[in-house]
Amino acid sequence: MTESLLAAARAAQANAHAPYSRYKVGAALATPDGRVFAGCNVENAAYPSGTCAEAGAIAAMVAAGGRAITEILVVGDGPEPITPCGNCRQRIREFADAATRVHAAGAAGVLASFTLDELLPASFGPRHLPPV
Ligand code: THU
Repeated sequence: MTESLLAAARAAQANAHAPYSRYKVGAALATPDGRVFAGCNVENAAYPSGTCAEAGAIAAMVAAGGRAITEILVVGDGPEPITPCGNCRQRIREFADAATRVHAAGAAGVLASFTLDELLPASFGPRHLPPV
């Protein structure tokens, strides 16, 4: 599955809209039924309105009815693995659990893998809220 995620993330990365940072990012995630959803960063002339690759992949999953991430991968072009930004760690948290694998890839492929709990320890999640 990790190889499929890398391929999907790289395909999305190629379409990234990153004219300001010139840093193209791709992300791909898997759902429990084996579906894969990908996204890329979409920057904006009004800089804070840009969105991360992970946000795009999560939005695609949710729009297709998915509500759980079993594995997620983020890829950039540099020599260093790209790990999700703080906001994206929380976005992933909404649909993942402590043991969910997060793969960080660079130009050479997957360079590091973490559990979500390693990237976002003692996190706040849906179960902290009272039932509505
Ligand atoms: N970026 C992502 O898409 N995901 C991350 O986890 C880190 C950063 C994007 C946002 C921006 O378009 C560019 O990388 C430079 O920060």
